[in-house]
Amino acid sequence: MTILQRLAGASPTYVEKRGENFLVAAHPKPVTVHRGTVRLLLDARRDFLSAWRASDYRSRTRAVRILGRQIVLVNDPADIKYVMATRHENFERKSPQMRRSLEPLLGDGLFISDGKTWAARRPLVADIVHKTRVPDFGKVMEAATVEMAARWATLPAGTELNALAEMAKLTAAIIARAVFGNDLSAEAAFEVVDGFTRYQRLIDSVNLGYFLGFDEGLPAFRGVRLKREVRRIHTVIDRVVSEHLDGRGDAASMLDLLIRRQEKSPGLGLGRDALRNEAATIFMAGHETTAATLTWAWYLLGSAPWAEARLLAEIRAVCGDRTPTVADVPKLAYATAVIEETLRLYPPVPILARQPKAADRVGEIDVEPAALVLVVPWLLHRSPDLWKRPTRFRPERFLKDQRPIPYSYIPFAIGPRICAGLQFGLTEAVLCLAILAGRFAVRVREGYPVHPTQRLTLRPEGGLPVTVTPR
Ligand code: HEM
Repeated sequence: MTILQRLAGASPTYVEKRGENFLVAAHPKPVTVHRGTVRLLLDARRDFLSAWRASDYRSRTRAVRILGRQIVLVNDPADIKYVMATRHENFERKSPQMRRSLEPLLGDGLFISDGKTWAARRPLVADIVHKTRVPDFGKVMEAATVEMAARWATLPAGTELNALAEMAKLTAAIIARAVFGNDLSAEAAFEVVDGFTRYQRLIDSVNLGYFLGFDEGLPAFRGVRLKREVRRIHTVIDRVVSEHLDGRGDAASMLDLLIRRQEKSPGLGLGRDALRNEAATIFMAGHETTAATLTWAWYLLGSAPWAEARLLAEIRAVCGDRTPTVADVPKLAYATAVIEETLRLYPPVPILARQPKAADRVGEIDVEPAALVLVVPWLLHRSPDLWKRPTRFRPERFLKDQRPIPYSYIPFAIGPRICAGLQFGLTEAVLCLAILAGRFAVRVREGYPVHPTQRLTLRPEGGLPVTVTPR
């Protein structure tokens, strides 16, 4: 904890209520007093979720100023459509915070690029993770989850696991095999996963330089430790890229698909660095998010026995005694609703931050160039103006005929920058959940206080201690 973080004061209080047939999911009590802008910045630096007041959850657009910087909070579906879709060209650029903190690792990778680079790469990346390829990658998802289930089955009764770490291992194994191919060694995969985790701990969650007047923010502090993690990750990926370029890679991998695109159309300019940046981007974007989703699903299901019973009944009806496969996913409507409701309550990317290129007008607000424009799924998905009993866990909201108001539900973002791996991530989450929930009762440690917190993704602070009991 830094001195600044300590100055920021105590953690927020959390509310959670359980009943026989309802669950009010863990929610930080909104702050009631305005603690001044510097204090707000310090709070946000420690944990973005702790800074919101009850009025911020209302569905509207408003602006505040922090140290002279205009911050526009867009929480109205029509205005979200305007920012994310209609005026995409003006708002496509990620915030300096996001770009600066990830650029040492991802370079010009899709997640943080914009303009010509983004426009050239987006169709390529979208195509290689496209939904039509999901059935092929589904085999990888099934195999990795069945391996995890086999390991869980050997654990002595009552062994406690950290669900967040377990889900991160699982989704990292899946995305590593999908991106790099089946031949990536376990040690190499560990180097990349561990490197990403450590990297995240080292980067700051607020770019103070931006608030002090530097429109582009200040470069992330590249200390020895940060450089070491970047080197570690790049060394592994560079080696794999070289093997693939020499024709020694798995032909079904995403990396090989990218290389073949480049061979067909040399004008794409996907050199070694670009290949590494896109592979690292897909790896990062494609594993933490799904790991967080599954972890939150275990928390919610473990506390909502009526929902778990309905899920198990569906799995039995669709799959009988056999292991669910990727072909079953379209038939698992309730499992899908559980994941969708989990993504509503705990969107893994809780804040979408943009920097407008030019002045604009959003709703009633005149937006300044280089302002910080925040679309916050965390607030939107819990707005009492848009959702009935917003903090309750109720997967039924997502069953047939009950779809949310357009632009009020955006866990994968929306508009041209919508998550390229939406179908991959959704299918993976439903499939992993169905395989594991069918075999194990996952229970959070009795009395464990679950506190959502945000780094790059939204996760339970300190992980999620669970036991897994074979059914
Ligand atoms: C439940 C799982 C997932 C969630 C909730 C999720 C969410 C998101 C969100 C919110 C964004 C936009 C971020 C922003 O605009 O600031 C995004 C972008 C992206 N995601 Fe996902 N994602 C998931 C899984 C995946 C998977 C599995 C992959 C790849 C296989 C992937 C690849 C990407 C890529 C490449 C981008 C950048 C798109 C662009 O900027 O054009 N995601 N994701």
